[in-house]
Amino acid sequence: MIERLNPFLPEFIANPYAFYSRYREEDPVHWGITSNSRLPGAWYLFRYEDVVKVFEDPRFGREARRVLSDNQAPLVPPAYKGFLSMVSNWLVFRDPPDHTRLRSLVNKVFSQRVVENIRPAIFSIADSLLDQVHARGEMDLIEEFAFPLPVMVIAALLGVDPKDRPLFRQWSMALLEASASRLTPSPEIYSRAEQATQGFIDYFTEAIAQRRAEPREDLITDLIKAQDEGDKLSEQEVLSMCIHLLTAGHETTVNLISKGMLSLLRNRDTFKILRTHPELLPGAVEELLRYDSPVQMVTRWAYEDVEIGGKLIRRGDSVGLMIGAANRDPLRFENPDVLDIKREDCRHCVFGGGIHFCIGSALARAEGQIALNVLLNRLPELRLAEQTLEWHGTIVFHGPKHLWVTFRPPT
Ligand code: HEM
Repeated sequence: MIERLNPFLPEFIANPYAFYSRYREEDPVHWGITSNSRLPGAWYLFRYEDVVKVFEDPRFGREARRVLSDNQAPLVPPAYKGFLSMVSNWLVFRDPPDHTRLRSLVNKVFSQRVVENIRPAIFSIADSLLDQVHARGEMDLIEEFAFPLPVMVIAALLGVDPKDRPLFRQWSMALLEASASRLTPSPEIYSRAEQATQGFIDYFTEAIAQRRAEPREDLITDLIKAQDEGDKLSEQEVLSMCIHLLTAGHETTVNLISKGMLSLLRNRDTFKILRTHPELLPGAVEELLRYDSPVQMVTRWAYEDVEIGGKLIRRGDSVGLMIGAANRDPLRFENPDVLDIKREDCRHCVFGGGIHFCIGSALARAEGQIALNVLLNRLPELRLAEQTLEWHGTIVFHGPKHLWVTFRPPT
């Protein structure tokens, strides 16, 4: 009998792939441990086919309140009203019909054209970050490059001052801690999230008022103006959406850049090929996403009894979709544990599927391609420094805390 999986254990987070292959083979629809002490357990799905089916299946959703009693549901305690009302407007936590309405308004704003227009700015942000460390010959790739880059890009899109990024960083970390790392966060975590929410609300309330008085060419103005059959986003919804885009698009992209580069530095031949063949970068980014997904798991609630792989998932059960395991499933990918940037069929499920498919996937891809391009181009002899990697305490947003690298400074 395989032991019950606890996906919050540090040894699991440090190397989930060693666990995934065992569970996928021996118990692919697995009843494991959850950190929500009010629930008896949670299902974890490891096979690609099962994960993508659940993404598309309306019998699974995101609103715990629909199936759990108040004393079971991992609801935010009522004292933290600001955080609660803001998060409840986030697309990722809503089901239809609210999700359909919000998503169609935001789709109008967050288009492919927006991503194409921001590409030159992403290049210059990446260059300016490397200018600051170039002479040193070493850096923490996360602290000095992968972390600031996406927040500066979203700040540029929203039209807010990139100098305020230390504030965004502090606030978005606090929100992620409360919304992603565990199902039942501690009071301290909620308090930090509540303060962060207030910080964000004050900041964006002012930014929105400025745009109302004087519209600009930025995403905040576009969100205010977005209309669908006469419907518009309310003031509160515009606010929540700005904060949602900032947080959802941040830590995910940090992990794409840092783990993407980590995989390349551990596969030196691939690293060398990419240096001389930058035209392979778009395919390489897809493969790096598949090989080590920045988001390893997302969750759903079962709204009905559903049978998967001979197991009965009951109404009210929590289901963890193990994206990271699905993308290494040998039934779906040939030699899944090999990094192959010329892989012909690399259709992974890193950005989810169904109605919640990531709205920022085109932006994330552009940021990943440009960030790796600039690093490979400008830092000759880039290497991993001697270090023991320390990991953030969640597999939802999966990545190391620091990544020390060395390179040859300009002569
Ligand atoms: C949704 C992954 C970048 C905004 C999602 C989902 C995944 C995901 C797996 C689905 C969640 C679910 O089904 O429960 C990623 C990864 C990224 C990334 C791996 C980077 C490599 C971004 C960026 C933005 C963004 C750059 C925006 C600036 C969102 C939003 C949703 C979402 C708003 C919710 C969509 C909905 O519920 O309709 N993302 N994401 N993401 N993502 Fe991303």
